[in-house]
Amino acid sequence: MHILVTGGAGFIGSHLVEYLMSKDHSVHVVDDLSTGRAENVSPFLRDPKFSFDKADILTWDGIWAATRAADQVFHLAGVVGVRRVLSDPIRVMATNIAGTERLLRAVAAGQRRPRMLLASTSEVYGFSGLPSQSEADDLTYKAGNWTRWSYAVTKLAGEHFANAYAREKDLPISSMRFFNMVGPRQRGEYGMVLPNFVRQAVRGLPIVVYGDGQQTRSFCDVRDAVRMLTQVAAISPVPGEVINLGNDQEISINDLATLVRRRADSSSAIVHASYADAYGEHFDDVVRRRPDLTRLKSMIDFAPRWTLTETIDDLIAREHRALAARGHSFRRTAAAPVAAMMPPAGVSAIAANEPLLRRSPTLPVRRVSGARP
Ligand SMILES: NC(=O)c1ccc[n+]([C@@H]2O[C@H](COP(=O)([O-])OP(=O)(O)OC[C@H]3O[C@@H](n4cnc5c(N)ncnc54)[C@H](O)[C@@H]3O)[C@@H](O)[C@H]2O)c1
Repeated sequence: MHILVTGGAGFIGSHLVEYLMSKDHSVHVVDDLSTGRAENVSPFLRDPKFSFDKADILTWDGIWAATRAADQVFHLAGVVGVRRVLSDPIRVMATNIAGTERLLRAVAAGQRRPRMLLASTSEVYGFSGLPSQSEADDLTYKAGNWTRWSYAVTKLAGEHFANAYAREKDLPISSMRFFNMVGPRQRGEYGMVLPNFVRQAVRGLPIVVYGDGQQTRSFCDVRDAVRMLTQVAAISPVPGEVINLGNDQEISINDLATLVRRRADSSSAIVHASYADAYGEHFDDVVRRRPDLTRLKSMIDFAPRWTLTETIDDLIAREHRALAARGHSFRRTAAAPVAAMMPPAGVSAIAANEPLLRRSPTLPVRRVSGARP
């Protein structure tokens, strides 16, 4: 099959590309490399079944030809991550809404009617207080906090565009609501929690938990996710339907920090900082995120291959290998004293802040759990 992957040099996209290439498909990637990396797809550049366009989905000339040639389209290009959403809201809206609409228009203009999956997000559920989130749930956003919810709203708009194109143009399109993907190549600097915890634990830095840490998430290994995605892509859908995709094993962020520290055999302290310290403003975090997977399970037969502990072990091993390749080793080092590693008051302590953590003593820390002996 000929498959178009937008955002294919990103975290999820590159795993999908790797999987599709291993199945001998021909794969065309478009990515502007804003958060994706060329090295994520460089192993395929010499493969005649692979092609890559570095381009912005909003202006990409090749969009018409590429969609005409595709049997399947995975639309993963998007502006992602709390930090970018807060710092670059116009870009978030333009890419996630106008970029998605442009792609849908191009798909609809062709004769081929490719199967299309859009990457949506569990953030669409907004401020759900329910124990798990199902596609039939009402969606609730808090009034007044415009920027915080703009990512969710753009993804919801993408779902609505997809639904409208699917029904009006009779196209086989589904929107996949991803719940907290984790795995190799995920970048911490945009606010993703697990890469930051792993990096901090392996280096003996304080593991920084925002809020009280009792908020829960349900993490899914990206390698499981791409297998599920390709299985869903093989199914003839209810046009425009939304489908949760993830793993329903729930964990609090405090427990995640403890698990990472234990698996890394680290003596890092676990510290708590406020969202205001992290993001420089009031931030509505979501208390629980756990996918109700009833719809997904009615469509595909899939058991995850990766437990969260296995994913964490894999990430820790990769972090050690990356450090060793650079001539560093942090194995069995003593914990750095927390006070000596916190950033100055008023400086964002977003979890990718390892350089900041080295700088100065005065970030307000609400609670510090003792370093392991
Ligand atoms: N990682 C998660 O847990 C998660 C959760 C929910 C939804 N998603 C969605 O999954 C998709 C992939 O996310 P990811 O985690 O791999 O993030 P990512 O940032 O690694 O991937 C997004 C890719 O899109 C590219 N891109 C951004 N703007 C573009 C543009 N205008 N034109 C072309 N390419 C552009 C980036 O360079 C990047 O390679 C996104 O749409 C995201 O909203 C991810």
